[in-house]
Amino acid sequence: MNVVRARAVACGHFLPERIVTNDELAERIDTSDEWIRTRTGIHQRHIAAEGETTSDLAVAAARDALDRGGFESSDIDAIVLATATPDYTFPSTATRVQNALGMRAGFAFDLHAVCAGFIYALANANGMIVSGMARRVMVVGSETFSRILDWNDRATCVLFGDGAGAVILEAAEGDGSPADRGILGTCLHSDGAYHDILYVSGGPSTTRQAGYVQMAGREVFRHAVVKLAEVADEVMEKVGVTSAEVDWIVPHQANLRIIESTAKKAGVSMNKVVVTVQDHGNTSAASIPLALSIAVQDERIQPGNLLLMEAIGGGLAWGSALLRW
Ligand code: UT7
Repeated sequence: MNVVRARAVACGHFLPERIVTNDELAERIDTSDEWIRTRTGIHQRHIAAEGETTSDLAVAAARDALDRGGFESSDIDAIVLATATPDYTFPSTATRVQNALGMRAGFAFDLHAVCAGFIYALANANGMIVSGMARRVMVVGSETFSRILDWNDRATCVLFGDGAGAVILEAAEGDGSPADRGILGTCLHSDGAYHDILYVSGGPSTTRQAGYVQMAGREVFRHAVVKLAEVADEVMEKVGVTSAEVDWIVPHQANLRIIESTAKKAGVSMNKVVVTVQDHGNTSAASIPLALSIAVQDERIQPGNLLLMEAIGGGLAWGSALLRW
């Protein structure tokens, strides 16, 4: 049976120039390189320069994806930008990216599911392509989490970094089997009862200030290892593949221990997992497209590879996707 698939045709990424090491943080707050490495796997993170915004990072990642795919911005019908750190309360950061790319047609909007944002955006773009609403969609994850961190709170500020990644999806025909290239399935979940374990202490309609990240780390960790394993199984079952068929897991990069636990539960060895958390920290919605772009550029990911992606973040919101590259 012929079906429409959302096929990934290009990707790109961008990281701010400035790198902040664990040792540099340890000069400012009561922490150590040893604590951060052993608890999280993080060695360093990139931090946006003064005045460098989420849309600046997104535009650079989007241009990288356009160049690598040989596209002009006028070839794109829609931009879906996942972020929890928009430039302004409104308009959407996506419309600022649209303008900076010189894209005068189509439509652009932000989507907010924090660290699960890229999976949500991918599912959304897939729906738009499969339904015929758009033919070619740019999905971007871009964050400047450094702007919503309390740099005196060692429990959170050591964990996050800034960056952006972008993927271009395009309508293509498939036969409806898991051998098709493109998005094969997505699973999304949220449970607002867990608001208090991971949130930002402000917003336009509460404090009128952006606020700072607050996290009950141990509790989030417990939910992450269970829910990510469940949602990985769920999408493989939905698509009809086994973990033995997965070529690469491209997980949300929050904590190496969570990544290892999810891979182990899925029965996938760590040499089939793309890990970038050591270099970038947790870049929220940007972490999966960043990791994906890096592994495509260094040629670990090859055309036809089956990729399993999964993420969890504030909400709680979590999800997974299977994509044949
Ligand atoms: O992307 C969104 C999803 N977020 C996540 O997935 C994050 C999930 N959680 C985690 O990754 C981990 O829970 C953390 C990395 C945040 C924390 O690791 P943990 O092993 O759960 O440590 P903990 O929070 O239980 O803290 C252990 C100790 C505490 O000291 P006491 O109470 O045992 O004396 C903390 O005060 O480590 C202390 N601590 C630190 N020490 C040095 C907390 N942060 C630091 C720090 N440096 N930066």
